Amino acid sequence: MKNELDPGLPRHVAVVMDGNGRWAERRGLPRLAGHQAGYRAVKTLVREAGRRGIRHLTLFAFSSENWGRPADEVAALMALFLKALRREVADLHRHGIRLDFIGDRDKLSLPLRRIMEDAQRLTAANEGLMLHVAVSYGGRWDMVNAAKRLAVATARGDLDPRSIDERTLAAQFTLGAVPDPDLFIRTGGEYRISNFLLWNLAYTELYFTETLWPDFDKRAFSAALSDFAGRQRQFGQVSAARFVDYA
Ligand code: FPP
Repeated sequence: MKNELDPGLPRHVAVVMDGNGRWAERRGLPRLAGHQAGYRAVKTLVREAGRRGIRHLTLFAFSSENWGRPADEVAALMALFLKALRREVADLHRHGIRLDFIGDRDKLSLPLRRIMEDAQRLTAANEGLMLHVAVSYGGRWDMVNAAKRLAVATARGDLDPRSIDERTLAAQFTLGAVPDPDLFIRTGGEYRISNFLLWNLAYTELYFTETLWPDFDKRAFSAALSDFAGRQRQFGQVSAARFVDYA
């Protein structure tokens, strides 16, 4: 759905931040330097999204599949997330940003889980941009969880299986209470969804750019938003008269 403040502005933007490794390798630097530069690009994007009045920003920081990377890179990324949260949460809170983490928390370290829970609690009443950070997240994991929740509810007798419809299932996803992304951005020149928000991206406008994530600056974001503003959204119909929105 279009944003109430500006009809050409997406209400929810979802981003696959790809290309950190290549950015570093092209400079003869270790991959971690690419992730650190990626962290700076995240800060720019969050600031810009908030300034423009975007309501939801969902960032794919670490996928279920990323656990298969070399152990030292996984450890360095986890350390970077912890450091970034320790450094940024108070400032994000001051700017009215609400933090939300989606993904399989059971796989994360205790300090990381704690800081995520504390950040969610601290910022829960904020009314600015809602920043959803996907860590240890996979769209299929999200679907399996949703199916399990419905199965448990039916087994307990709390839910009649014949009453299950799209709305019932949609509500079980980690972003069940959030409008679906209007715009999906993937940097780094790959043309894939890579197991991101599989259910939620059904009618999302897709935008791919060759720009590597650390180079995705204010101008690059503006270009993506301008492209979105020019799209005709039809949601499977003949005009944008209706939109699919379960939230
Ligand atoms: C993909 O690039 C990027 C990641 C797996 C990590 C994303 C992490 C950040 C942007 C850093 C900080 C984020 C937060 C939220 C504090 P890649 O390594 O797959 O790059 P490549 O395709 O060039 O190898």
